[in-house]
Amino acid sequence: MNQPELLLNNGLRMPQLGFGVFQIAAQDCAGVVKTALEAGYRLVDTAQTYCNEREVGRAIRESGLAREDIWVTTKIWVTEYGRGKTHKSLDASLERLGLEYVDMVLLHFPVPSVFERTIGAWQDLEEELTDGRVRAIGVCNFHTHHLERLMEACTIVPAVNQVELHPYLSQQPLMDFHRKHGIATQAWSPLGAVMLYDAAGVDKPVHLLEDRTICALAQRYGKSPAQIVLRWHVQRGVAVIPKSVHAERIRQNLDILDFALSDRDMELMNGLNRNMRGALDPDDVRVDTYATRMYEQ
Ligand SMILES: NC(=O)c1ccc[n+]([C@@H]2O[C@H](COP(=O)([O-])OP(=O)(O)OC[C@H]3O[C@@H](n4cnc5c(N)ncnc54)[C@H](OP(=O)(O)O)[C@@H]3O)[C@@H](O)[C@H]2O)c1
Repeated sequence: MNQPELLLNNGLRMPQLGFGVFQIAAQDCAGVVKTALEAGYRLVDTAQTYCNEREVGRAIRESGLAREDIWVTTKIWVTEYGRGKTHKSLDASLERLGLEYVDMVLLHFPVPSVFERTIGAWQDLEEELTDGRVRAIGVCNFHTHHLERLMEACTIVPAVNQVELHPYLSQQPLMDFHRKHGIATQAWSPLGAVMLYDAAGVDKPVHLLEDRTICALAQRYGKSPAQIVLRWHVQRGVAVIPKSVHAERIRQNLDILDFALSDRDMELMNGLNRNMRGALDPDDVRVDTYATRMYEQ
């Protein structure tokens, strides 16, 4: 299958369609990742806090695919930030994955209250590039002002910023900033799985895939709502990492290359933006914000 790729600012080509493994239980993860690789995915997105790096690594080793044909991303958790500390944390991730290198390492969040630790972590990752254990480095959940602070203090511009991004949070201003600085945009919760609420309150979550406009487009194009949303991302030049534990959906989410949304329908989709963020605003993240759910150290 000829899949689209994004050219990163370090000259590497990253698959635009990837597979996310957040909230896939460790006991299921190897099987699900193998299904995804068999379906044709060539990028797997994990993180230290997903507690499934071991199973991701096992699925890759047992897939029969050449290591260089699979893009593996992991993420450093905020408690692991700081000069020197992040090197050690990457040692542990590589050991769990059972891999000699990862294609990309991302800082999972900025920590605005102690940003010097975020900078220390980034400086460690910059060194990892020269040590060859990492091919690309990037960040997640950075606002433009976090990127500006990082770029002022450091040498290497992130290759990727992975952020919450779906039709209800289209992130156009951030994407404009990315384009200006050569940073690729990768969408997490590309299908809007993160809990979204409007004025109706928390007892009534909003389900993006039930949106009337998206469902009408799905009917018109003969595709599922998820395929319409993923196609919108791809046509905007955004990389996606949808997660599913169901083989049929895993295949469906990759099967979006045989149609295109018209310019008019892209505009229609762009018009759905409500700046509706499901996750915590990155400006409010502190080291102790989330109960740390890490592997045993
Ligand atoms: N950097 C960060 O801070 C961050 C944060 C969150 C997530 N992520 C990454 O982004 C990835 C994706 O985000 P996400 O898992 O939050 O959300 P998502 O991919 O937008 O959506 C996943 C949800 O949609 C369902 N789904 C998948 N395909 C579907 C389809 N074709 N039709 C209907 N429903 C479908 C899945 O259910 P089933 O599994 O039951 O099919 C699951 O409930 C994660 O796995 C992770 O790798 C990163």
